[in-house]
Amino acid sequence: MDMTPLAARSLAGLLEQMTGQQLANTRRWRIATALQPVMRKYNISSLDMLAGLASQPGAALREDVVEALLNHETSFYRDLSVFKAIGDEVLPALSEARAARKRLRIWSAGCSTGQEVYSLAFLFSKEKARWDDWQIDILGTDVSPQAIAQARNGIYSQFEVQRGLPIGDLISRFDQEGDDWRIRSMLKARVSFSVHNLLDTPPAGRYDIILCRNVLLYLNAEKRALAFERLASALASDGALMLGAGETVIGQTSKLGADIKARGLYRLVGDGTRVEKRQSDRRAASGT
Ligand SMILES: C[S@@+](CC[C@H](N)C(=O)[O-])C[C@H]1O[C@@H](n2cnc3c(N)ncnc32)[C@H](O)[C@@H]1O
Repeated sequence: MDMTPLAARSLAGLLEQMTGQQLANTRRWRIATALQPVMRKYNISSLDMLAGLASQPGAALREDVVEALLNHETSFYRDLSVFKAIGDEVLPALSEARAARKRLRIWSAGCSTGQEVYSLAFLFSKEKARWDDWQIDILGTDVSPQAIAQARNGIYSQFEVQRGLPIGDLISRFDQEGDDWRIRSMLKARVSFSVHNLLDTPPAGRYDIILCRNVLLYLNAEKRALAFERLASALASDGALMLGAGETVIGQTSKLGADIKARGLYRLVGDGTRVEKRQSDRRAASGT
């Protein structure tokens, strides 16, 4: 369906205003396809007309437009190495550091439909003996109310569970419901979800692990810097931040540095390992 450049700019501008996400010109082809269901829902015949209506503050369809333009791509255990690093590097250190209180708080910022959060919950349930008497709180947040609703339901299609989930996990952690699969309720005990914009004040308290993966990629430099401020302010002093493959803190914030021990893992700068981290950042930045 044709669309004037003005309408494309206006729709992409709405997405950026509400979420910080930029629709690069190369991804603008998505607009027409993604907005078809919204046009049907509101009985609107052209994208130009939709853009006009969506530009009016308070219009109900604005949220539907933003929702349709967001990219919710995710899967269970996406980038397996991240979950391995959490299991091998982060959790052993935290289990010692928090042995007295036996409490861990984890935040998945931009959790989409919940697969990342449940993959974390699976890690703990695999080591039941070790974590059973711990209070583990895993919070998933996303700017999209629809994604959060699906995450809370914990129901996934055959296609969704086939992506990345080992068959053993499927059988032991889900119940089949018709063509779909529902996460067992005991696995939901440690997780909670809420709608939240990463650019707003973070959820209260400090988190021992924060995952913010494949969310910051399409933010402009200014909004990305703000997002790093928010993430850094929510991270415990010895906590770990995980970003997506291809994302980095290098050159984006002075508050976080790359951990030399595990790829894709970032720490608050300013503790005893500061120098190492800075050197490692420099090496990574120069590609040596
Ligand atoms: C590509 S998905 C990544 C999901 C998951 N973290 C992963 O890596 O598999 C990006 C998610 O970030 C959410 N998102 C985009 N901008 C956001 C913002 N400003 N605040 C919170 N969530 C945001 C989107 O709605 C989407 O669900």
